[in-house]
Amino acid sequence: MKDYRALLAGKNLSYFIKTYGCQMNERDSEKMAGLLEQIGFSAAQSAESADIVIYNTCCVRESAEDKVFGHLSREKSAKAQRQFILAIGGCMPQQAEMAELLREKHKYADIVFGTGNRHRLPEFLWRVIENGERVIDISEGENLPEITDIPVTTREFPHKAGVNIMYGCDNFCSFCIVPHVRGREKSRAVADILAEIRALAEDGVREIMLLGQNVNSYAGDSSGFPELLRLAHEIDGIRRIRFMTSHPKDFSDELISAVKKLPKVCKHVHLPLQSGSTRVLADMNRRYTKEEYLVLAEKLHTAGIAVTTDIIVGYPGETDSDFEDTLDVVRRVKFAGAFTFIYSKRSGTPAAERTDLIPRKVANERFDRLTAALYPIMTARNEAKIGRAIEVMTESAGEYQYKARSDDNTLVHFSAEAAFSPGDIVPVKIETAKTFYVSGRAL
Ligand code: SAH
Ligand code: SF4
Ligand code: F3S
Repeated sequence: MKDYRALLAGKNLSYFIKTYGCQMNERDSEKMAGLLEQIGFSAAQSAESADIVIYNTCCVRESAEDKVFGHLSREKSAKAQRQFILAIGGCMPQQAEMAELLREKHKYADIVFGTGNRHRLPEFLWRVIENGERVIDISEGENLPEITDIPVTTREFPHKAGVNIMYGCDNFCSFCIVPHVRGREKSRAVADILAEIRALAEDGVREIMLLGQNVNSYAGDSSGFPELLRLAHEIDGIRRIRFMTSHPKDFSDELISAVKKLPKVCKHVHLPLQSGSTRVLADMNRRYTKEEYLVLAEKLHTAGIAVTTDIIVGYPGETDSDFEDTLDVVRRVKFAGAFTFIYSKRSGTPAAERTDLIPRKVANERFDRLTAALYPIMTARNEAKIGRAIEVMTESAGEYQYKARSDDNTLVHFSAEAAFSPGDIVPVKIETAKTFYVSGRAL
């Protein structure tokens, strides 16, 4: 096979990647950037000045796709003004209908590719540059070769990085497109993950986020997720370990105790609830009940672990009483934070077949009632931190004003006389609290 990286190396082009969606896509973008940097391409300051513009897309909700199409219309006009290569990759093209639409109706796109063949980007670029070809190449799921051979020289943050521990998803929640676009769940080998973390630590990374759609079901070389946490914990240089996402059905007591006992493992778990109604949860194929979720959240809180969540309102057939169950869980668990969504129909998923749709007006009302229940709880939790001294890891470098994260993932703004860099750990006295962050002063 041709070495496309070598062939492209002399070209010296600039690239710009626009990333939509979750941490998986963010990490994929870093990997693609790494591939391009490795052959001497450089990051452009903006899409307008780049030789190659890459869209790494998300299709988890209709609004995500609308955003991409909105931005693409600008690229279409830009194409009439100047020459550049436009590549559309990520989750959107992984849906057959969408790939067809992009192929037929968005002819200004030079490359349409998927999540499982992103490592072939150099080859696709070469085919456009040298042969004037239009490349439409969608992979089946995530049939990645050994992913560790893709170096990452470009990270969004110098001090923290995501590390994929698994790809794909086998859970098939009825509403969700992810298993359909990311393919079957596949755990990476323990040795590969640890080698990647060691390399990142040597490169200055202090915090890692272990990534998977359901990290609790990690099964690499017969080692489960708690064991992987213990092994990652031993790596020098890494000061904090986070992970996401956790599926409530697979969250074991062994994992709770590992999180509690391992000092570097942050005391925060993102535990999507989706709905508080056992009936809706069964419809969603989530495989836990309201009561089981409440018990798990209670165990986490008892172990000193903060819980954040994802909630969907307006799932087909959701009654007022189902929605009241969701509010009930919100009030009882007292989440530290939540991403809230209105159900969005995704074609190809089982829920898309449902005809008992919730009117938009009702879904909007429930959405507003949900946030009205959540926000005072989040504010009160933050207010309880006033007067306390907490250790934070700095995320930004600024002039005496910084953004940082506490161990339990609270966003902390703080002022200081001294200069700090991203990754520095600083004790901060909390003085004021808002819904989404707290503010204070370095001690
Ligand atoms: N693997 C993770 C995250 C998947 S996507 C998990 O299991 O939670 C992130 C969130 O998007 C989901 O938790 C869900 O709340 C939301 N989501 C997924 N599909 C959706 C849809 N069709 N409509 C609205 N929200 C959706
Ligand atoms: Fe989607 Fe469910 Fe898989 Fe999460 S666990 S990615 S919500 S199917
Ligand atoms: Fe979106 Fe794909 Fe992530 S659909 S949420 S970018 S896995």
